[in-house]
Amino acid sequence: MKMPVMLDLFSGLGGASEAMRERGWEVYTVDIDPRFHPDLLCDVRDFLKLWPKTKNVDLIWASPPCDEFSKSEKPWFDQDRPSIEALALVWETIKIVRELNPRFWILENVRGAQKWLGKAPCRIGPFYLWGWFPFDELKQMIGNERVFFGKTQLWPHPDRKALRAKIPYGISLAVALAVERHLCIDENFIKIRSPFQRELPFVSNTECVVEAG
Ligand SMILES: C[S@@+](CC[C@H](N)C(=O)[O-])C[C@H]1O[C@@H](n2cnc3c(N)ncnc32)[C@H](O)[C@@H]1O
Repeated sequence: MKMPVMLDLFSGLGGASEAMRERGWEVYTVDIDPRFHPDLLCDVRDFLKLWPKTKNVDLIWASPPCDEFSKSEKPWFDQDRPSIEALALVWETIKIVRELNPRFWILENVRGAQKWLGKAPCRIGPFYLWGWFPFDELKQMIGNERVFFGKTQLWPHPDRKALRAKIPYGISLAVALAVERHLCIDENFIKIRSPFQRELPFVSNTECVVEAG
């Protein structure tokens, strides 16, 4: 049986695709920052030049940078709209989705992005999701475990931003299970590779408190 193919765009610490990797999917992470050791180290705007367009993709997850969308919600920042760069990365994601025509896709960002992207059809704690996905099924799977999906609070240190942006394992797993159900993948076929989270590439301080979503 062929395992599903996933593209994790703006992959950072790889939280969105953690469960898929563990379950044996064919996962490709894409990020511009070499500290994250992505499978494709490139600007997402160059991705289509590198990717074989004939390859079928089952799921695209994209988490474009959210800083500027967050700031636009906070009056104390002298900025009420995201830069052209921030929006360009969102539109680039849409272009990739159009080009590769995956079975499912999810664009993840923060509440503030709704001003530009419209109301998100799905929210899991602080994570707002747009795209083509059985979101009702996803919400059902996750249920009311909101506390578990809160963003982590950390003492200031260099890796804080990356850790806070990391998609929680529970969300990754629920997305993986929903896709597998739709693709009719036999549960018995999945051989979990490692029950543990992937080692973080550069995180120095992992002490954290979970904040209610
Ligand atoms: C919100 S974080 C992603 C978090 C990720 N989903 C996770 O679970 O850890 C955004 C990521 O986008 C990457 N990034 C920013 N600009 C980029 C670009 N032009 N092309 C590719 N990656 C970019 C950053 O390096 C960062 O890792």
